[in-house]
Amino acid sequence: MSEIIETLRALPGVSVTDTPEDMAGNLIDWRRRFSGKARAVVAPDSTEAVSAVMRACWDAGVPVLPQGGNTSMCGGSVPDDSGTAIILSLSRMNRIRSIDPEDDSVTVDAGCVLQVVQEAALDHDRLFPMSLGAEGSCQIGGNIATNAGGTAALRYGNMRDLVLGIEAVLPDGTIWNGLRTLRKNNSGYDLKHLFIGSEGTLGIVTGAALRLFPRPAAEATTLLFFATADAALKTAATLRAAFPGELSALELLSRSEQDIVARHFPDRALAMPEGTGWTLLVEVAGAGTEADLQDKLMAALEAPMEAGDVLDAILASNERQREAIWLPRHSVTEANMHEGMGLTHDIAIPIGKVPEFLTRADALLAEKLPDATPVVVGHLGDGNMHYIAMFTREFWAKLDDPKVFTKDVGHLLNDIAADLGGTFSAEHGIGTMHLPDMARYKAAPELAMMHAIKATLDPKGLMNPGRLLPAQ
Ligand code: FAD
Ligand code: MLT
Ligand code: ZN
Repeated sequence: MSEIIETLRALPGVSVTDTPEDMAGNLIDWRRRFSGKARAVVAPDSTEAVSAVMRACWDAGVPVLPQGGNTSMCGGSVPDDSGTAIILSLSRMNRIRSIDPEDDSVTVDAGCVLQVVQEAALDHDRLFPMSLGAEGSCQIGGNIATNAGGTAALRYGNMRDLVLGIEAVLPDGTIWNGLRTLRKNNSGYDLKHLFIGSEGTLGIVTGAALRLFPRPAAEATTLLFFATADAALKTAATLRAAFPGELSALELLSRSEQDIVARHFPDRALAMPEGTGWTLLVEVAGAGTEADLQDKLMAALEAPMEAGDVLDAILASNERQREAIWLPRHSVTEANMHEGMGLTHDIAIPIGKVPEFLTRADALLAEKLPDATPVVVGHLGDGNMHYIAMFTREFWAKLDDPKVFTKDVGHLLNDIAADLGGTFSAEHGIGTMHLPDMARYKAAPELAMMHAIKATLDPKGLMNPGRLLPAQ
């Protein structure tokens, strides 16, 4: 057994696993696309135990990869092939520390699973609005480290907007307790924002104070069917004007995506009216009664229906129907895994440019990648399009170098986004997958500032090496 493993095993509150069988699940990601090796999986049960682990790794010069629910979409949560790092798993740090409905805040360990936090809030008649397909597995620390977006970002913002304070352990083991729940605090640099979206490259997030919201009294959910993406966008604009501050989801799916869900999960599929090319899931939440809100929603949709933009609509009249409308949306990542090899892009563009982006991306695929089927999952309200080039496994197996192919396809599509004033990473982060994009699209002064921050907080370069920042 190596010296560092022996040291870590001796620490109180720290469990250490180093057999290949026991580590297997930590060495490969949720979609089974990225894998690597590690010396051990180390799981501390408290902030003090995390600090002791970090101190030992700092002294020994051992790299550390923090791991939450391991649901990263871009290779951020598994180690590289060198086998030099330890994985620091937050899974044992899963306590709700305190909840204060009067202050609309909850303070949690970073290893709390997102769904557990949502449920704790509901138990106190409050809402923690972050919501995404992996919510049963991903952790608050991972959501913070990636600045997750999800389906409610339109109304409540990204994780950055939901974090009031954090507790973090620095690479040398120093504990920083920034667990304030203040809404206003202009006392110098707001350091929590450095850690939000830093993907474990600056330190370990061990705790977080999060914003809660009053639970809206009523919700109305509908699924709209369109022939074209243009019509969906026009209708979305009408709804934004009709429900200022009340729209909580505008989720766009291409017909190709709905068909993939239907192929792999027929019991989750919804019937599509003839001519459907796109669907838009719309949710509004506000005061008053459910019936009033539903009436208001249908009234707002009258004009787009009369204009022929909306082909048809399903309105949920109870919770079971609401879930049935959401189920295909939440099934896309799993269904895509069964379908083939989908190259998911995480593009955001100004919302008015969405139709132009889709037209140009489809044309590019038809011309340069005729083996790909375009599949779109979009958080339309945020202009965030997961444009997926779907390939068959047979096609994929014949590629000489899938990594280079993935990068080249990414550049083709991300170039269009860049040309439209957009980004290649709206909510998934960088991980290892988007390193070539960081080098291609980020301005030199921006990269230089990021490297300077990294060098200051992690002078030995031990935190999550090879992630987020391209080599200088
Ligand atoms: P991990 O995957 O374990 O780690 C992600 C990164 O954060 C890694 O770099 C890791 O080192 C770092 N990290 C993790 N915990 C800590 C910590 N405590 N301290 C410091 N660094 C840490 N993402 C969205 O934004 N929106 C979506 O709608 C969305 N939907 C998804 C649906 C599915 C089905 C799946 C599989 C993924 C989806 N994702 C989505 C991506 C993913 O769920 C999010 O990025 C999530 O925030 C990652 O959380 P995690 O706990 O799994 O982190
Ligand atoms: C989503 O919006 O469903 C996620 O970001 C995951 C995906 O892109 O598949
Ligand atoms: Zn998404």
